[in-house]
Amino acid sequence: MKHFLSTIDWSRESLQEIIDQAAQLRTSPLNDRLRGKSIALLFLNPSLRTRSSFEIGAFQLGAHAVVLEPGKAAWGIEFETGVVMDGDAEEHITEVAGVLSRYCDAIALRAFPLFKDWSVDREDRVIRALAKHASVPVINMETIVHPCQELALMRTIQDNLGPPAGARYGKKFVLTWTWHPKPLNTAVANSALLIATKFGLDTTLLIPEEAYLLDQQFMQAAEEQAKATGASFEVTTDITEAYSGADFVYAKSWGALSHYGQPEHEAALRAPYKHFMVDEEKMALTNQAKFSHCLPLRRNIKATDGVMDADYCVAIDEAENRLHVQKALMLSLLGSDQ
Ligand code: CP
Repeated sequence: MKHFLSTIDWSRESLQEIIDQAAQLRTSPLNDRLRGKSIALLFLNPSLRTRSSFEIGAFQLGAHAVVLEPGKAAWGIEFETGVVMDGDAEEHITEVAGVLSRYCDAIALRAFPLFKDWSVDREDRVIRALAKHASVPVINMETIVHPCQELALMRTIQDNLGPPAGARYGKKFVLTWTWHPKPLNTAVANSALLIATKFGLDTTLLIPEEAYLLDQQFMQAAEEQAKATGASFEVTTDITEAYSGADFVYAKSWGALSHYGQPEHEAALRAPYKHFMVDEEKMALTNQAKFSHCLPLRRNIKATDGVMDADYCVAIDEAENRLHVQKALMLSLLGSDQ
């Protein structure tokens, strides 16, 4: 049985099939290919885009989505093995996964890291526990990676830059860190690196200082994937160098892993770096690049109004593409030919 936990486990060809089918579904959005099927959407954290696009996407394919919010309108879940469950959680993932696997044809989960100990959170234990105990495909709706966002990003890149020239895409992609009042999840940044390098984009990671490097498992995967395609993968703290000649600029804020679980200290570390905000002057350095962000985005904190309202901003298109790629993913995992 195939899960969709991380694009690391998926070939570029398989991902491209989903991205291609997403374009077809954009043209012809309604069909009955999942009639009678059900998907459980488990949200341990808030969402606007992911929840809407999965629910509506399932509906447009004739399927039913049931949304569950463990700890709110559903029982709290314990994900660790062998613990004495004398805390808030009322049931264990073993039973949750077993029961939902009897009702549904797939289970999707959003479970952000706990922001206490990165050595624990980096193992992505929650979704791996679900995948271990489920007997239907499991879809990651954001943990320490956000693979559905990756699909939408790559659909958007190909919509705007054209298809890859070959194993090496032949375009420059910049992932820039931006300031934010809180130390946010690294998931989208990890994922942006994974998908850009898998598809052979010449990738530049722009960070204010070394503390904002991403976890070694993603840095290493990015290096290896870039090497396999013949593309470059560079890290820089030089804003001008990063933006110069860029074809696609992607912004995200994340907390320094060296200060994980210490938000006050992390805030002091990031305080000098508000100027990493994406603005019109920086975008003018690029090769008439498109700009995007996964959303939600705080205007005039991560990117200026001028950037967000510019013709080159494709963030809304990327959000729309969430719908199309997730429908293609559900067809791939739940379709009758599986
Ligand atoms: N980009 C994204 O996943 O948005 P939501 O958090 O609103 O689902």
